[in-house]
Amino acid sequence: MLILGIESSCDETAAAVVEDGERILSNVVASQVLTHEKYGGVVPELASREHLRKIVPVVDEACRRANLSMAQIEAIAVTEGPGLIGSLLVGLVYGKALALSLGKPLVAVNHIEGHIHAVLLENKMERRAGKDVAEVQLPAVALVVSGGHTSLFRVEAGTPQGGILSPLFSYRRLGQTRDDAAGEAFDKVAKLLALGYPGGPVIDRLARFGNPEAIEFGRIKMKGNPLDFSFSGIKTAVLYRVRGTALAAEAEERRAWRRTRGRADGDDLRRQCSQATLDLVASFQNAVVRDLVERTLLAAETERVGSILVSGGVACNSLLRQRFYAAAGARRVFFPSLALSTDNAAMIAAAGYYRLGAGFRADSSLTAHASLLI
Ligand code: KG4
Ligand code: ZN
Repeated sequence: MLILGIESSCDETAAAVVEDGERILSNVVASQVLTHEKYGGVVPELASREHLRKIVPVVDEACRRANLSMAQIEAIAVTEGPGLIGSLLVGLVYGKALALSLGKPLVAVNHIEGHIHAVLLENKMERRAGKDVAEVQLPAVALVVSGGHTSLFRVEAGTPQGGILSPLFSYRRLGQTRDDAAGEAFDKVAKLLALGYPGGPVIDRLARFGNPEAIEFGRIKMKGNPLDFSFSGIKTAVLYRVRGTALAAEAEERRAWRRTRGRADGDDLRRQCSQATLDLVASFQNAVVRDLVERTLLAAETERVGSILVSGGVACNSLLRQRFYAAAGARRVFFPSLALSTDNAAMIAAAGYYRLGAGFRADSSLTAHASLLI
């Protein structure tokens, strides 16, 4: 079955064609980084306008790259939420209109479920390609960690019911962030230090030149559920280490330098950072990664599962990948490729495939939900 996926929940306009939930025929992502970077974060109104500009060409391009006409698409899967309401509505309304005009079934997908399916999709593709990788075993624990979310889930394969052949997945939330998402903390720290946007990839690269043990932020303590997260404390701790110090003056100089340079990254940016700044970002990243890894392993232990799935933009982080592989022990940890870790529509098409197989159909009453839960 050829499914067109459409995703527009935040600042990427994305469309993809996926066959049978396991073969990516095209995967197009139009990033809005250039629009939002001067603000150091996503500006919702600008994001909606940008989606409006991009949605038609991005969907056309996904069909073109898949070598298919719109008429050959068999179903449409669209992100229903969670996300920015204006952004969500652009993709959702376009998906609805396409489904109606083409006379094809429409299915609504939860963005977080999409991120989990990115791991399953990648695993299937790698195995099909003959790569020597283990198969994801369910039940599993999934960490979805991005700019908008940091949550842990237990993922199970549901039992096919009522003659439905495709297995349905079920998800139980084990914990979630009580304040900032991990990616949001990366972005805010990068903004404070004038390192650029999005902050995650920049800090990831700069941290390689700093000492991760230079500053001990201490373990993040959670009252109540130990599988919940909280990153606002560490973000504030970084702020206190910077405010009124030489690091703040250095950040101001960097801000002025960035204004004259436009986009700047890599060696140029590193040369604008003192060793104290590099040590600070390395120590910050170290503390966030340690917390993510420890709570996820605790979840895997309490749920007694052998597979851990990690996805979302922060899953691109090189230290996070390294630490998970090193700490997993007998458990197996699965990450999607970098392209499928960040927001994309292939994951939406893949999740949509199983929902369609399980009999789900969206009707004309479908609308976007900014705080949709799974
Ligand atoms: O999944 P995503 O594309 O969008 C959301 O659903 O939020 O994730 C974007 C987030 C941003 O906060 C970005 O800074 C973070 O993922 N990110 C990273 C890395 N690459 C992206 N964080 C840490 N290390 C990275 N290498
Ligand atoms: Zn996302």
